Amino acid sequence: MAYNLLKGKRGIIFGALDEKSMAWQIAIRCFEEGATFTLSNAPIALRMGKINELSALCGNAEVIGADATSLEDLENVFTQSIEILGGKIDFVLHSIGMSPNVRKNIPYADTNYENFLKTIDISALSFHKVMQSAMKLDALNEWASVVGLSYIAAQRTFPGYNDMADAKAMLESIARSFGLQYGFKKKVRVNTVSQSPTKTTAGSGVSGFDAFYHYAEKLSPLGNASAEECADYVVTLFSDLTRKVTMQNLFHDGGFSFTGVSTELVEQMMMNK
Ligand SMILES: NC(=O)c1ccc[n+]([C@@H]2O[C@H](COP(=O)([O-])OP(=O)(O)OC[C@H]3O[C@@H](n4cnc5c(N)ncnc54)[C@H](O)[C@@H]3O)[C@@H](O)[C@H]2O)c1
Repeated sequence: MAYNLLKGKRGIIFGALDEKSMAWQIAIRCFEEGATFTLSNAPIALRMGKINELSALCGNAEVIGADATSLEDLENVFTQSIEILGGKIDFVLHSIGMSPNVRKNIPYADTNYENFLKTIDISALSFHKVMQSAMKLDALNEWASVVGLSYIAAQRTFPGYNDMADAKAMLESIARSFGLQYGFKKKVRVNTVSQSPTKTTAGSGVSGFDAFYHYAEKLSPLGNASAEECADYVVTLFSDLTRKVTMQNLFHDGGFSFTGVSTELVEQMMMNK
């Protein structure tokens, strides 16, 4: 159901690769809610992904290639988006993550530091770079909303999540630090949404992902949140209904983050004793 929550708003959505991507579902919901936006992803993802299909589903949204670690590329995304959309930007989604250590199955304790730096640059510093570029160009309207996607491995350790855990901890910290700067300067809000494990290309690349997924499903009173449900939540954060929410890491995980253990898991443990 659509409520016209984003009518008249202009946005930029980074990170839609295919229909499983969180950014894909968020783009679809933003379009349903009346927003206009541009889509951006790394040049290689534009070649290999399906972003043109998404563009067609979103009123032929313009696609702008950018490596999110490049300030030059990001400035170009903001400049072009303002021109294409006909005004400054009201919302930005950062849905970007990649760890070469995860991809190559290099254990955390034996990390390759060059890879580690890439993980941090792509998955965390790019969030800072997006906001620095926007601020430099004064590309955002007052009360604009910037959202990044995070995971609870920032607070609690999950074997297999590897250096992405450190990147997520930094991402959430950047939301607080930049949120303070941007809030005082221009009333821009900045938050991260900490999402349940979700079956996407990035998610499924994490070793033991299926076990994470099923464990979280069993432990969460409301069950895991899907990508579509994440999209619903993010739409509220882009809307005017959440104007005083900023510098937060918001758990969107069916209650997983605050559950110690479930009765079902306790009973299973008792049976296996
Ligand atoms: N899937 C999960 O279980 C889960 C849970 C919580 C948070 N997240 C986070 O959600 C976000 C989106 O991931 P997803 O699960 O939708 O997977 P995805 O693979 O669909 O999206 C990741 C995106 O990052 C983009 N990307 C990688 N390197 C880039 C670069 N240098 N420049 C620009 N873009 C680049 C990829 O092209 C891709 O579109 C990530 O931050 C991820 O960590 C995912």
